[in-house]
Amino acid sequence: MSISRRKLLGKLGAAAIAGAGINALEGSARAAQSMDMPMPPHREGGTILLNRNENAYGPSAQVVLAMQRSLTRANRFPRKASEDLASQIAAFHKVKPDQVVVGCGSTEIFKSAVDAYLGSGKTLILSSPTFDVIGTYASASGARVASVPLSRFWSNDLDGMLGRVDASTGLIYICNPNNPTAILNSRSELETFIGKLPANVRVIIDEAYHHYAGNSSSYASFIDRPMDDERVIVTRTFSKIHALAGLRVGYAIAGAQTARALCAHSFQENLNVVAAEAAMAALLDTQSVQVNIQRNADNRQEFLNQAYARMMRPLDSHTNFVMFKTVRTADELIDHFRQYNIQIGPRYPSMENYIRVSIGLPEEMKEFWRVWDLMPFINKMAM
Ligand SMILES: Cc1ncc(COP(=O)(O)O)c(C=O)c1O
Repeated sequence: MSISRRKLLGKLGAAAIAGAGINALEGSARAAQSMDMPMPPHREGGTILLNRNENAYGPSAQVVLAMQRSLTRANRFPRKASEDLASQIAAFHKVKPDQVVVGCGSTEIFKSAVDAYLGSGKTLILSSPTFDVIGTYASASGARVASVPLSRFWSNDLDGMLGRVDASTGLIYICNPNNPTAILNSRSELETFIGKLPANVRVIIDEAYHHYAGNSSSYASFIDRPMDDERVIVTRTFSKIHALAGLRVGYAIAGAQTARALCAHSFQENLNVVAAEAAMAALLDTQSVQVNIQRNADNRQEFLNQAYARMMRPLDSHTNFVMFKTVRTADELIDHFRQYNIQIGPRYPSMENYIRVSIGLPEEMKEFWRVWDLMPFINKMAM
């Protein structure tokens, strides 16, 4: 009797939940792995989530197996797993172990950087809009936050940022490619920018979307091609290409002295054992990373095709999301899609007529465009 892959995966997923057991989970992970397929993707109560730039496909079967195996070690504190992960990251990137800082998501590293380099009387410089969680931490530390509008090309305005540097500047945050615009700053302009910064100013380069940026020749990671500069802190996350957002693992690569300063402000034993083991397996599973990169490129191209067909011109995306201008406001679009159980956005006040949409599974994106086409056509010319 033949059974479709989808039905089989559905059954495997159900078994995993109903069995409440590692055996059922291991069985489903093994079955999926042996067929070279991803685990059944998780959906939140039937809602299509296109609002947090997550990896809709879920973690690879190998990573799920690693998590399952780690569960029985939950009685032990996670220090060794965490140290093993840091060593593995160091070997992976060919840096010294004392240059690696692991965090409860890269978000924890932003907080550590704020604690190490900001506080009352200091200033954080960042773009607007960007992924600005660090701005919240900076304000809470008593620091001033200097927001610099993006350039007219929707990239970080590096000259504008340089113009805001003064004696109070402690930290600069650069998201590259930038969330929410998905636009890149080139390697050469970033190097020139860093070269002009005072010796005591640290700069975070957030490479959360690094794996999706490979199609641009002007892009180069500051981990893959280090500047060997104590001021530079590069952050990466396991929340995107590795599909582990729910586990909260990120890391920074920095000079040894800077890494020590960040570690001094980290939460002790900040990674749980499941997260650390999952991250190690994810780092080794380079084949799944390649599959995810290709899937994202294909699905993103399909999204762009659909947008072009509707006469829209999205910003050039180097990420797993697309930002585009519409004749409606972001609020109107978010409300419309919410009625059909699809989450998009959020709204960015300075980009009122733009909407950010994360790239989901092909069937989710089909539903997205079906719901898009339910909106009455607005003739811009007649307005
Ligand atoms: C640019 C950027 N950096 C960092 C993060 C969060 O990373 P983590 O989950 O590792 O805290 C996100 C999440 O969407 C992001 O867009």
